[in-house]
Amino acid sequence: MAEFRLPANSRFKDVPGHTHRAASTAKKVRTFRIYRFDPDSGEKPRVDNFEIDLDSCGPMVLDALIKIKNEVDATLTFRRSCREGICGSCAMNIDGLNTLACTKGIDEIKGDVKIFPLPHMPVVKDLVPDLTTFYAQYAAIKPWLQARTPAPPDGERLQSPEDQEKIDRPSACILCACCSTACPSYWWNSDRYLGPAVLLAAYRWIVDTRDEATGERLDALEDPFRLYRCHTIFNCTETCPKELNPARAIAEIKKRIAERRH
Ligand code: SF4
Ligand code: SF4
Ligand code: FES
Repeated sequence: MAEFRLPANSRFKDVPGHTHRAASTAKKVRTFRIYRFDPDSGEKPRVDNFEIDLDSCGPMVLDALIKIKNEVDATLTFRRSCREGICGSCAMNIDGLNTLACTKGIDEIKGDVKIFPLPHMPVVKDLVPDLTTFYAQYAAIKPWLQARTPAPPDGERLQSPEDQEKIDRPSACILCACCSTACPSYWWNSDRYLGPAVLLAAYRWIVDTRDEATGERLDALEDPFRLYRCHTIFNCTETCPKELNPARAIAEIKKRIAERRH
């Protein structure tokens, strides 16, 4: 897999971090090596070491982050909300992989637990990436039902179970951005390439049988950068914590565009 990197202004280089030792009575100690960066401080990024007694900590990486924030260093900054793998807020790079801190077990990791923000994104603070471009790209694919035919006056727009099946898995995307920030094509072209998460969302509406804007949706994607920067490297599918397959969705979009040319 390609090397993960942070943007130039947020890389850490030889800046000594702080070390917070566990109590001498602690028996089950693990070290959490956590990226720290406050762009407003004028200081360079560093990696701090936090020794945590796992006997008094929950089992997930997010439990350790919350414990550190509550008991050791209240300035540690990260996003989280649901603690159930549903909201996508706690996406970060843990032990070299983009994943969700709330569903990643500490015991799945050998040795020190290394925690960095999602790679190749500007850093707002510590483990919080700036997702402004990501969300703008999501809005650009118009992630809502577009239909000219009025809905039945006395009910909802119905689908067969088979048609619902087509959107069932793509709808499970939680927009955590783990896949897009693991994609080398997105790293180098994120201003123009939509990336796997947003293309999976586009696919979800393209295959929705109730939607009547399929042609316009495909028109908007038929572009050398927006869609065709995907080179089927599959990093996205490998890293998805919800076991979705954005690479296949992208291939399906390309296939539909090719088919309508003939
Ligand atoms: S398959 Fe496409 S979207 Fe997925 S990581 Fe590779 S280039 Fe990126
Ligand atoms: S496809 Fe998976 S990794 Fe990508 S945003 Fe959705 S849930 Fe996250
Ligand atoms: S806190 Fe919601 S997905 Fe982790």
